[in-house]
Amino acid sequence: MEIIIFDTQQELDIYAADLLISVVNEKPDAVLGLATGSTPIGIYDKIVEKFNEKKVSFKEATTFNLDEYVGIGPENDQSYAYYMNKHLFSHIDIPAAQTYLPNGMAANMEEESARYDAMIQAKPIDIQLLGLGHNGHIGFNEPDDNLTGGTHSVKLKEETRLANARFFASMEEVPGYAITMGVGSILKSNTIILAVRGADKAEIVKEALTGPITTSVPASLLQTHARVIVLLDREAGRLLG
Ligand code: GLP
Repeated sequence: MEIIIFDTQQELDIYAADLLISVVNEKPDAVLGLATGSTPIGIYDKIVEKFNEKKVSFKEATTFNLDEYVGIGPENDQSYAYYMNKHLFSHIDIPAAQTYLPNGMAANMEEESARYDAMIQAKPIDIQLLGLGHNGHIGFNEPDDNLTGGTHSVKLKEETRLANARFFASMEEVPGYAITMGVGSILKSNTIILAVRGADKAEIVKEALTGPITTSVPASLLQTHARVIVLLDREAGRLLG
């Protein structure tokens, strides 16, 4: 694991954006795994800036998002589909047909999960961007006795609903379920970027990166992957020796 600690959020954003852009510049039909949450917003802003400066084109690229809420459609401004359009897709030249998210409105979640996994298998992810939940979740893979390898629907923990409530008008509106790539799908990515910021994540960062590999901290399984680049701001990295 390569761990890089940045003095400022801005530097982290630029570094992560450049990593993703360099993959696309080397391989124009690259497959990018993308994440949501507040952490990637600055990274997407930097990608859009570089796109506007004509430093990269996404015409041939494909993207797979990690997760989506169950029961809210892409027109809902809390959906991850809406978020991706707002922060990235509508500002760059990627054809909409090459951007994939799990469908949280699918009638049958098992079928939707199998469909999503088959698409990822056909187009393996070159580089996957990840954030980190306070309880160690990646995507929406919540701490559990067992983790599911492939895409699956998941009941969100109350702590996760609470953490994400800030984006909703009220706690009642926060969906109870989501559909997420599994840890197995994530670990199949060629390269993984884990981007984390903020003092409130310092303890879980330490646990995930230096603690035991355990399904009760899903991000700790990243320790088993050969190419993980961890990007932290000073606050998130403050407990690492
Ligand atoms: C959500 C997402 C995760 C994300 C996490 C942390 O739960 N499903 O993919 O990593 O939030 O988000 P933030 O960056 O806002 O702390």
